[in-house]
Amino acid sequence: MTKVLSGIQPTGRFHWGNYFGAIRQYIALQQNEQAYYFIADLHALTTVRDPQLLQQLSLEAALDLLALGLDPSHATLFLQSDVPEVTELTWMLMTVTPMGLLEKCHAYKDKIAKGLPADAGLFTYPVLMAADILLYDSDVVPVGLDQVQHLEVTRDLALKFNHQYGEVFVLPNARVLDETAKVPGTDGEKMSKSYGNTIELFEAEKPLRKKIMSIKTDSQPVEAAKDPDACHIFTLYKLFASPEQQSALAERYRAGGMGYGEAKQALFEQARDHFAAARERREKLAADPATVKDILREGARRAREKGQEVLDRARQAVGFVPRKR
Ligand code: ADP
Ligand code: TRP
Repeated sequence: MTKVLSGIQPTGRFHWGNYFGAIRQYIALQQNEQAYYFIADLHALTTVRDPQLLQQLSLEAALDLLALGLDPSHATLFLQSDVPEVTELTWMLMTVTPMGLLEKCHAYKDKIAKGLPADAGLFTYPVLMAADILLYDSDVVPVGLDQVQHLEVTRDLALKFNHQYGEVFVLPNARVLDETAKVPGTDGEKMSKSYGNTIELFEAEKPLRKKIMSIKTDSQPVEAAKDPDACHIFTLYKLFASPEQQSALAERYRAGGMGYGEAKQALFEQARDHFAAARERREKLAADPATVKDILREGARRAREKGQEVLDRARQAVGFVPRKR
């Protein structure tokens, strides 16, 4: 069976962009493939430096994924830092990584270009990501466009290692997620934590409404006939509404006589209802942290079982003394 793996950093609460652009698609894959999904807390350490916050964001990420439908009986869900094998593999890969390859990687390059100081963690971030992927013999890695470069690095390192030591690693392929519908934020730019324009998935009703009401629009009067396709509210509405509901609202835009407030209200109701069941599941899970911890513990156990097998292969290939287990 094809092995699918992806990771998501717990650097903030998940927003609509994360859900429609990534999480929803990961969850859909768990049905037909063997799926490994992890919360990339080792990677997050390059940005989140408050220990309590990191722990909280990591557990919330697990809660969110489970509430949204990630099913631990189908997919293996774990915290990256619960699998220490990944850091040992990172070191081995580091020894076949040319500096020049990492100097081209955008996370590091962008920071340096802004004149900001970068640490070795950020510089070597793509090597850890390669270890994440290679440790489980992953075949397919669903990622957003921004991560495709890191997949190329992963393949490069796997090829270099295999060339030096024999066929140790499976070569993974990126499966680029459908980001064609880039989700706009409240200011119309791409929704992203770094722009402060996000709407979180499990926002309480009041702040959800407030955020939706703050979405930027042009200043056409109520009477004016409007173009739905030029309006961010409509773009967001389409994520939630059925085709019939979409045409009905589009018709009202074109007819004139509808203000943006009404469109925002329609969006608010759709979004609230869309996540209502997940919100309920989330509340139940949040009240039962032991269950979530058990799921993560079992996920880490399964991940380590596979990870140790691959790490042993790599250890043997480089000439380390076999480890007794
Ligand atoms: P942020 O930009 O808020 O920091 P991340 O980079 O952590 O979000 O996003 C994780 C994944 O979620 C991305 O790789 C991408 O696939 C998806 N994603 C994030 N924002 C959007 C968006 N506005 N539209 C579509 N997909 C998105
Ligand atoms: N770097 C990815 C991101 O920021 C997260 C990630 C870490 C990842 N390791 C991974 C994604 C391995 C896919 C596979 O979005």
